Amino acid sequence: DKGNHRHFMAKEIYEQPETISHTLSHYVDMGAEKVAIRETLPFDFADLSRLTMSACGTAYYAGAIAKYWFERYARLPVDIDVASEFRYREPPLEKGGLSLFISQSGETADTLAALRYCTGQGQHVASLVNTLESTIARESGVVFPILCGPEIGVASTKALTAQLTALASLAIAAGRARGVVSAEQETELVRAMTALPSAVSAALAAEAQIMDISKRLSKAKDVLYLGRGAMFPVAMEGALKLKEISYIHAEGYAAGELKHGPIALVDEAMPVIVVAPSDELVDKTLSNMQEVAARGGNIILITDPEGARTVGHGVADIIEIPRVHSFVAPILATIPVQLLAYHTAVFMGTDVDQPRNLAKSVTVE
Ligand code: M6R
Repeated sequence: DKGNHRHFMAKEIYEQPETISHTLSHYVDMGAEKVAIRETLPFDFADLSRLTMSACGTAYYAGAIAKYWFERYARLPVDIDVASEFRYREPPLEKGGLSLFISQSGETADTLAALRYCTGQGQHVASLVNTLESTIARESGVVFPILCGPEIGVASTKALTAQLTALASLAIAAGRARGVVSAEQETELVRAMTALPSAVSAALAAEAQIMDISKRLSKAKDVLYLGRGAMFPVAMEGALKLKEISYIHAEGYAAGELKHGPIALVDEAMPVIVVAPSDELVDKTLSNMQEVAARGGNIILITDPEGARTVGHGVADIIEIPRVHSFVAPILATIPVQLLAYHTAVFMGTDVDQPRNLAKSVTVE
C-alpha cells in the first residue's frame, strides 16, 4: 500500500522519521541516553584489531560511511570492499577477526559468497539485515536487525538510513568498549542520534525547492556529486540513486580529487551537487566548490544554515538541511539526495519503483 504517495519510493522516503526512531529504540536506551546492544556478541570490540565489511550497492555506501565512524569514534581499523571484489580477492584475514555484512534483503549473492569465505577463514561473522529470515541472517553468528519494515521500491532509501542508525550505534558501542568514547561523549552522541527523526522531517520539507531543481536536473546528461570525509560516500550514494532511477549518468567523487581529473568535465551543462554540511572539513569542500563556480559550473549545494552563511548568495542553489552534530550529518544528508533522484525520475517519467534492468534482490552474481 502506497498510502497517499504516487510511488513506494516516495512513501519509503517519507517514512524515515519513523523508521529511524524505530531502529533507534532497538539500539539505544532512551532513558539512560546510552547505546544498549541487545544481541549477544560472540566477540569483544576491545580485542579486535580490524573490522572487515563487505556489501553491494547502497549497503556498501552504508559501510563506507560507517568506516569513518568506527575509525574516528572507536579507533578500530576498517577494511571495506564491494562484495563482488572481496570474494575473489580472497584477502588474508587474521583468525578471530570480525567480518560484517550489510544487506537489506539478506539474499545478495556476492555478499553471501563473501560471508561464506569469511566463515571459512575463522572470522566472527556478523550481519546487518532487514529480512531476518534470509540466508545471510541464517549463516551469521550474530544478526543486527535494521527494523525499517519491508522496502518495496528497488531504490534503497529507508533501509540505508536504518542501516546507518544501527551502524552508528555499533560504532559507539565499539568506542565505549575500546575506551575511546567516554560516558559523557556517549551521551552527546546518543543525543545527536535521537535528534535525527525531527531533523529528517525538517529536511523533507525542502521538497518543493527540490522539485524545482529536479526539473533542471532532468535536462542534464551528466551530473557530478562531490563530498569529503563521510560526505564522500553520501555523494556516491546520490549518484547511484540518480543513475538507477532517472538513467542520467552521474558520478560521486571525493571533493579533493576534483583537481586530479573530473574538473575537466565542468561546463555550464553539467550540474555539480556538493554535499557539504558544516563540519571541520567544510571550508575545504567549499573551496573546491568555488573552483567549479569559477569555471562556470552550475552548483547545487546541500548544506546547513551555517554552511549557507559561509557561502553567501549568488554562487549556488542551496538546499538547506538542519544543523545537526557532525556524527549524524551523513545520515541527514542522504535525504535531499534521495529526493533529488526521486523527483528527477518523476519528471523524466521513468518507472521509479521498478527501474529497467534492475531487481530488488540480486541473487545471481
Ligand atoms: O539487499 P541488499 O542490501 O544486499 O542489496 C544491495 C544492492 O543491490 C542495493 O542496495 C542496490 O544497490 C539498490 N538498488 C540501490 O538503491
